[in-house]
Amino acid sequence: MKLCIVLCLALFWVELQNGSCQQPKRRKDVGENRIRPGGKRVKMRHPKLKDSGGKGQSLLTQVLDKGRFLRLGETTTLTPGRNIELRCKGTNIGWSYPTYLDTFNDSRLSIKQSDKYGQLLLTSPSAADTGLYSCWVIVCDGVECEKDHERVYSSYVYFTDKDNIFIPSAIHFEIVYLRPDRPAVVPCRVTNPQATVSLHREVPPEEIPANSTLMTYDPTKGFVLQNPSPEYQGVFYCKAVTRGNPQISIKYQLLYVEVPSGPPFVGVEVSPDSVRGGDNVNVTCTVLGEPEVDVGFTWTYPGQHHRPIHIQTSWRLVNRGMGHTTRVSQSILMVEDMETIDFGNYICKAKNQYGETFVAASIISK
Ligand SMILES: *[C@@H]1O[C@H](CO)[C@@H](O)[C@H](O)[C@H]1NC(C)=O
Ligand SMILES: *[C@@H]1O[C@H](CO)[C@@H](O)[C@H](O)[C@H]1NC(C)=O
Ligand SMILES: *[C@@H]1O[C@H](CO)[C@@H](O)[C@H](O)[C@H]1NC(C)=O
Repeated sequence: MKLCIVLCLALFWVELQNGSCQQPKRRKDVGENRIRPGGKRVKMRHPKLKDSGGKGQSLLTQVLDKGRFLRLGETTTLTPGRNIELRCKGTNIGWSYPTYLDTFNDSRLSIKQSDKYGQLLLTSPSAADTGLYSCWVIVCDGVECEKDHERVYSSYVYFTDKDNIFIPSAIHFEIVYLRPDRPAVVPCRVTNPQATVSLHREVPPEEIPANSTLMTYDPTKGFVLQNPSPEYQGVFYCKAVTRGNPQISIKYQLLYVEVPSGPPFVGVEVSPDSVRGGDNVNVTCTVLGEPEVDVGFTWTYPGQHHRPIHIQTSWRLVNRGMGHTTRVSQSILMVEDMETIDFGNYICKAKNQYGETFVAASIISK
């Protein structure tokens, strides 16, 4: 059980890293204008809701006791422990909520649709459920349904808990990559928007002064560093204070990265340099790239399908000095006891999310 929770949280963390937004039960979401198979552009019809309170007004409400409703604004502050019911008017409503709730396949969450409204129920909410809750109208044209982007209503809900000013996390250490071309976020989010939050370096111990042009704090995101530079590297933590009660976040390792995003840069090497029949030979394919970009390797070689070959794939992070970090991904193809059929071209294909690169090494008999 413990292990499962740790794994689940690790997955959750990976999802956060990917910036994914959880929208299960989501319908096809392709914008307002669609191209029909015939190539004709069709404008979606937007059936008017009789009782929608006018354009721009949120349809997202919280059901209070005795059938009273509270229309939710951009942010809402609630008390943990008390069950909540959110409703959104419409006959077909989509929802999104913090990924945390899906990670645990949480039975505390239930989503229902009635003839008049969509309903989201969350029992025993805790500080960890703090995040963005959204609903939207789904419009259907025949059997095809899609999200109406003009009718999406959201509220960032804080479950304020004085014992957890920071949203609890089972991870004690998180890596934040700094890139010269985009803002970086130290994601120490709070459960109380009124908390005073500061960013601290561990060694040497110092507080990083907030400077609105360089660094801002957003309670729904964390510290946003506008133009990250290598000087922000190191181990940091956030400190939050409410009513004189200070708390400390998990630690964040900030790493500076300066590798452009693109297909992998690949090098290939044969060892030893000169090969004879009977030798053991390694062909190594190496990729230098961004720390969090996964690289997959595929080999094509003369003895393929004819003899067993051992392939060893690994990666590691390397500090290149000046605080730059590079991920070195490597695939080693090991041929034991070279035979005639093994001489020829060894082709390595390295693939990442941006593309693929092929490199070849030729092994000829001496
Ligand atoms: C989530 O829980 C439901 C009911 O307990 C179960 O049917 C479903 O398979 C679970 N999904 C995942 C992804 O674990
Ligand atoms: C913020 O930092 C910039 C660049 O170092 C500096 O020019 C500016 O005066 C600072 N602003 C404040 C409010 O400290
Ligand atoms: C091939 O690589 C393996 C694993 O790194 C190593 O143990 C072995 O010595 C290498 N062999 C040659 C011929 O370079």
